[in-house]
Amino acid sequence: MSKGFYITTPIYYVNDKPHIGTAYTTILADVLARFNRDAGSDTLFLTGLDEHGQKVQEAAVERNIDPQKHCDEMAPRFTDLWEKLHISNDDFIRTTEERHKKVVQFILQRVMDNGDIYEAEYEGLYSVSEERFITEKEAESGEFRDIKKLKEKNYFFKMSKYQKQLIDHIQSNPKFIQPEHRKNEILGFLRQPLNDLCISRPKSRLNWGIELPFDKDYVTYVWFDALINYITAAGFNQSTKQFNSWWPASYHLIGKDILTTHAVYWPTMLFSLGIPLPLSIFAHGWWLMGDSKMSKSIGNVINPMDLIDDYGVDPVRYYLMREMVLGHDSNFTMNSFIQRYNSDLANDFGNLLSRVTTLIKKNYDGVIPEPGSLSDSDMAIEKKGKELPGVVNELMNGMRLNDAIEEIMQFIRTVNKYMEENAPWKMVKEDKAAAGNILYTAGEALRLGAVLLSPIMPNRTATLLDALNVEGHDQSWGRLEPGRSLEDHEPLFPRIK
Ligand code: MSP
Repeated sequence: MSKGFYITTPIYYVNDKPHIGTAYTTILADVLARFNRDAGSDTLFLTGLDEHGQKVQEAAVERNIDPQKHCDEMAPRFTDLWEKLHISNDDFIRTTEERHKKVVQFILQRVMDNGDIYEAEYEGLYSVSEERFITEKEAESGEFRDIKKLKEKNYFFKMSKYQKQLIDHIQSNPKFIQPEHRKNEILGFLRQPLNDLCISRPKSRLNWGIELPFDKDYVTYVWFDALINYITAAGFNQSTKQFNSWWPASYHLIGKDILTTHAVYWPTMLFSLGIPLPLSIFAHGWWLMGDSKMSKSIGNVINPMDLIDDYGVDPVRYYLMREMVLGHDSNFTMNSFIQRYNSDLANDFGNLLSRVTTLIKKNYDGVIPEPGSLSDSDMAIEKKGKELPGVVNELMNGMRLNDAIEEIMQFIRTVNKYMEENAPWKMVKEDKAAAGNILYTAGEALRLGAVLLSPIMPNRTATLLDALNVEGHDQSWGRLEPGRSLEDHEPLFPRIK
């Protein structure tokens, strides 16, 4: 069985409310999943929830309910939003599921049997908000809240043992950590000796977690538990056939805030298990509001639900994908959202559709005209249309989504200009066949644009393809069918005033 395309998002903390930042990673994964499905790859797209740990326990205690019940009540905030955003995930994992707990315990036992887990008394500074021991230096940085001194017996994973193997892997697999500057950041971090990782928490302090199979007084550290979700969902220790068809994952998409856990903890865990590493960990930047990260604690979050209610799902997806250069931070402002919407979607794209369909309805009884002998300017558009998919696909595969979108919009703008220069609304009176060529060519350009934009805006492009009475997502030029009638449609992107 050939290996499919397997893409994951981080599993989000069930306690937190989803916002544009979390929605962004999920939409990005969805776009790439849809793009790969269109390209004919078997695709597994995974997202889910991280449900263990101190914060969940505390929230449940505060509400005076069972932590599982608390998780069950919080989870729909995410699943409802994903549904609303048309997220096409194939699986949704929650770390409190039986399938996951079994895999985590199996792995803990295996790593223990390998000799990679040891017990030790540890005294150090513990950050309650981060749920981990921190170094003196980190404590001094002022970035950590709720720090206390703790002395306790715990279990440690011999992460240090795999430091050299990890450096070698990163150096010989240039795509393993992307983009490049994140790879350099991790290599920089690995110049210092790597500490071992504390992977347990005593139940006396925290009991909301997966019990260690070799000591019932302890639960598993939440990150050790959470990272394993990526192989649980691929079928590890459940179905070898399934696991081999998905693993290693094509992409773990993450925000830059969780790079170390993914690019250091996770690979060393996999080394210990003898499981191949994911092909690529891709860290994107943050959505900022002004100059600060959008986050719940700062209180500057934009609620994606409100935006969707006001402007529709697809414009939100479009804006997020168009505006962020993958790997860099981006500023979210309502002004730039509205500007983007009006110029790209309402003026360029929506306008072209309404021009073409109005003219075909008025002059050709709503039937798509047959192209005949084309003029030079018709052929220039056709040539561009034949080249466009290659360019766009390469940019998409290279994770340059904003550039891919720009190429498509550039093409649409060229077609608008071609319409203006050739004025088929005038030409139709003298030379109906020549005007028909133009309308066919512009209609086909719209179809192609919609096909290429369909991973980004699955809904509105489906409306457009329905309006043109075409099926499928064929990227080759000339799939618009002459002789078919146009279907009525709602305005695609009404201008925002
Ligand atoms: N539960 C861990 C991840 C475990 S994965 C094995 C976690 N969860 S989280 O809910 O805090 O989500 C973090 C992720 O949300 C980031 O890595 C990023 O993908 C996304 N974002 C959260 N805020 C963001 C922005 N302001 N901008 C862009 N993405 C951000 O960490």
